[in-house]
Amino acid sequence: MCGIVGYIGNKEAAPILIKGLHQLEYRGYDSAGIALLGSGCNEIKVFKAKGKVANLEEKVDAALSSESQQTSLTTGIGHTRWATHGEPSETNAHPHVSMSGDIALVHNGIIENYKLLKEQLESNGYEFKSHTDTEVLVQLIDYYYQRNGKQLVKAVNQALNKVIGAYAIVVMEKSNSNHLVAARKASPLVIGLSNDNTEFFVGSDATPLVEYTRKVIYLEDEQIADIYIGKDIEITNLDETSADITIKDVDLDISALSKGGYPHFMLKEIFEQPHCIENTMRGRIIMREDGLYEIKLSALTNFKAKLLRARHIIIVACGTSWHAGLIGKQLIEDMCRIRVEVEYASEFRYRNPVIEKDDVVIAISQSGETADTLAAIQLAKQQGALVFGIVNGVGSSIARESDTGIYIHVGPEIGVASTKAFTGQVTVLTMLSLALANAIGTISEEEFQTTCHELTQIPQKMEKVLEQNDTVENLSSMFTYARNFLYLGRGYNYPVALEGALKLKEISYIHAEGYPAAEMKHGPIALVDEEMPIVFLATHHQLYHKIISNMQEVQSRNGRIFAVVTEGDEDVKKISEQVVEVPNTLNCLVPLLSVIPMQMLAYHVAVKKGLNVDMPRNLAKSVTVE
Ligand code: AGP
Ligand code: GLU
Repeated sequence: MCGIVGYIGNKEAAPILIKGLHQLEYRGYDSAGIALLGSGCNEIKVFKAKGKVANLEEKVDAALSSESQQTSLTTGIGHTRWATHGEPSETNAHPHVSMSGDIALVHNGIIENYKLLKEQLESNGYEFKSHTDTEVLVQLIDYYYQRNGKQLVKAVNQALNKVIGAYAIVVMEKSNSNHLVAARKASPLVIGLSNDNTEFFVGSDATPLVEYTRKVIYLEDEQIADIYIGKDIEITNLDETSADITIKDVDLDISALSKGGYPHFMLKEIFEQPHCIENTMRGRIIMREDGLYEIKLSALTNFKAKLLRARHIIIVACGTSWHAGLIGKQLIEDMCRIRVEVEYASEFRYRNPVIEKDDVVIAISQSGETADTLAAIQLAKQQGALVFGIVNGVGSSIARESDTGIYIHVGPEIGVASTKAFTGQVTVLTMLSLALANAIGTISEEEFQTTCHELTQIPQKMEKVLEQNDTVENLSSMFTYARNFLYLGRGYNYPVALEGALKLKEISYIHAEGYPAAEMKHGPIALVDEEMPIVFLATHHQLYHKIISNMQEVQSRNGRIFAVVTEGDEDVKKISEQVVEVPNTLNCLVPLLSVIPMQMLAYHVAVKKGLNVDMPRNLAKSVTVE
């Protein structure tokens, strides 16, 4: 994980870097740091603080306001850390500076062979201050720098050729405050440029850049960018050949990056869902002049023959995206009659999975940067499968690595607990299943039309679920005492139970488990007592009566039942302590509604416990390390 930023130009660097780090803080918040340089500066100035960027900001403000030459510090790099090697501490915080003091570096990723490199450097007299893998990289660059006549790009190249692992780095050198070098492999990096080459910005994603420029370069794997004030950027590959440069226009709505009046990003993102999935469907579900629906997915048109030939689909994803994948499996199997497996990307990538030439591998990822999912699709591609990405992060690594795919278009998701991305992913999976089933002929025209119509009604039905936020808030106080929760659902609601449990675990730190409701009696029922809250997803669908029996089993053991039911339900109400209603819809679309009370419940329990909902402990938004 980690967020990195860089700036070089004619303005004071510190405020730009700090603001950028705030925007990237969702990527990690174990510590933060910046390194600054300016003309007439004879050393790289480094500021570091444990914890949030706000702690760093305080330190930097205090230090710089007492210095006279503050306006000349116009070059800098910054980092907000999610530790992989070495505990979160000020010493382990980035930027790391080489022993000579000549070079400073920020890094996102993992240097896998750092131990060996460290031993070699130590035998050459290098001493280390931190326990990070990153410090090895800055010392290694320094090692080559001192031996090659202080040519920074060359030293970076030589060092990166020795490194095994993943990195996005920005490097600065004490002797030249007009110069930054950036490079990446398997971790994202974007460079923003002004029109006249007087200013350059670097970021782990485009969010810290868009306020200043829309012109960006997405650095590719194993590329090194040489960034000089007043000159065009030069990009070389690790094999020292020069690379083509494509400047893109980034289209990102900055207002989407603020909380818009909500106390937390997570709540804002929960409430945005009706609007977001309208965006997901925009231009894709179309009502023709004859009043019939049609689904237009360019990804499907371009690869139609291959997709229609597929007899086996493998979905790879992690976390919430994996839960969306479980819904995707049911949708595709139900509608298209194609066999689907859903795999944790982290297991799939190391398991020698059977992938046939005509298989399709669907990667689902909000960020598009999850290292395990990226590695899984690289493996699938090597084995000849068609890779189809369902991604939110536009221009992200997974989006670029996929052969084709569909963006979910729900806008930046900042809250670490994923909400709107889940409903966006399920919406895309529904459209994909419908379109594919229609093309293969496994769905009747009537079912196709009804499902399309019902899908277009979901945003307004979501609004009705959101109206019950106060109810969920009130009842959440009853559950803050709990140490354990069970979430139970069947059919399409089983993945929703898993997702509800994950949400609660992530932000309220209450242990929770999701189960298919009927599995309860094979073990988890032993946990039920009068203290145990049990969330039942008991909408009026498939297996409704069976789930009522499961609820009765819990009731007779004094468990405390909270249920999500279909509007107008009477039977479940009688056996539940609390219920939240969702409007009626088709069985296959119910997760789009029933997940919302799950999100709201987790949110309110965490808020009532006084926890930091947007930045839960130990987690980071995108997991770009293994
Ligand atoms: C969701 O609330 C989590 N924070 C996490 O499980 C997440 O879904 C997972 O890391 C996958 O991320 P991705 O969708 O960006 O690939
Ligand atoms: N490996 C580096 C560290 O622990 C960077 C971590 C990351 O990118 O997540 O400091």
